[in-house]
Amino acid sequence: MGKKSDIPSNNNKYPLAASPIDIGPVKLKNRIVFPTWQVNYANTDGTVSEKLLEFYTAMADGGCGLIFTGCAVVSPDTVAFNRVMRIDDDRYLPGLRKLFQEIESRGSVPGIQLIHYGRQALTSVTGCELIAPSPIPCPVMSKFDPHYKLREMTVDDIHRVYNDFIAAAARAAEAGARVIEVHAAHGYLLNEFLSPYSNHRTDDYGGNAINRARLILQIIRGIKDKLGNRVAISLRVSGNEFVEGGLRPIDFKDLIRQFEQNGIDMLNVSAGVYQSMERIVPPAKLGVAPHIDITAELKQYSRVPVCAVGSIDSLELAEEVLYAGKAELVAMGRAQVADPAIVNKSLLGKESEIRKCIKCSKCTFWTTGDPQMYCSVNPAYQRPQKVLNE
Ligand SMILES: Cc1cc2nc3c(=O)[nH]c(=O)nc-3n(C[C@H](O)[C@H](O)[C@H](O)COP(=O)(O)O)c2cc1C
Repeated sequence: MGKKSDIPSNNNKYPLAASPIDIGPVKLKNRIVFPTWQVNYANTDGTVSEKLLEFYTAMADGGCGLIFTGCAVVSPDTVAFNRVMRIDDDRYLPGLRKLFQEIESRGSVPGIQLIHYGRQALTSVTGCELIAPSPIPCPVMSKFDPHYKLREMTVDDIHRVYNDFIAAAARAAEAGARVIEVHAAHGYLLNEFLSPYSNHRTDDYGGNAINRARLILQIIRGIKDKLGNRVAISLRVSGNEFVEGGLRPIDFKDLIRQFEQNGIDMLNVSAGVYQSMERIVPPAKLGVAPHIDITAELKQYSRVPVCAVGSIDSLELAEEVLYAGKAELVAMGRAQVADPAIVNKSLLGKESEIRKCIKCSKCTFWTTGDPQMYCSVNPAYQRPQKVLNE
């Protein structure tokens, strides 16, 4: 793909997508983001592998402004997959340092997403009793695992998880991440706290919206207090959980101001939880940009830049979203995995050379039973023959 110097900084066709933006203290060269993809390419001990490095350096070479690596596990009791990235100990620092350096040296900003899976994990994989705000089993995961075991978190558990997130954020910053994303979407632990669907507590961490948001607010404030302007903080939420009794866009009306006052620099709006899985990675039948109105509503409540995601598969569409004022940033997942050079090819007017995602859903390894992410159209991530024959 074209050398960095070939890429015009002003682009007539995609003037907004190609324009720089500040996320708190961090400057991005353009508005295209790679959203976190757990690919299970790490080494079995959770350290960064060569394969993981190659995955992200290809993305950085391809021109997107901000790359969220991860997700990275913050606590040893929630290692929910073999080969998921980890950040729950200093031994992960050297690999992470190299990863962030490689991304930054290619002109992209390295970010990382921090996760605790809460009830959306399998006890038979974590080897630990799962924890959640309330002892309500995940309707999806509990069916898969005869050993599924879940308990309500004590206040001591909450403090421990808080400390784990802050320690993980400090490690990420020490390793050179410039944007730290707190994962409070897709039904994982922090989303479980936020949602009346999964949080039935009656103490300070349950009940009204502020109580349900308390742990998230404490984590954001804790990261801000510890790291100040060394990093930007992104919060990822599911703007609509698409489940009975779950979060709807209107529920964020007053919450976003609270998130902002406690330190977020960016809001990354996704949708869905495991029970509404097709909202997390929207299939073709949902059409293009199916969540854009959810994002636009949350943007009305926000002062910080908002990122849209979900079946936005070309720079044309990204530009439309930006032009319509529905978001300040656009994340493209499958489109960039199918062709990591989609941004630079588009900016150079070489759209006809883009290898397109066919929305076959084979990348969603957790639904196919694959151990890691494979892509049907990108030869670098194709399913090896021996797995096919298994
Ligand atoms: C293989 C795969 C792994 C994903 N892992 C994560 C993750 O770890 N954290 C997260 O917030 N979203 C994750 N997502 C959701 C993506 O970030 C993104 O929101 C989704 O792919 C929809 O965007 P797209 O239509 O541009 O692909 C994952 C999606 C896929 C397909």
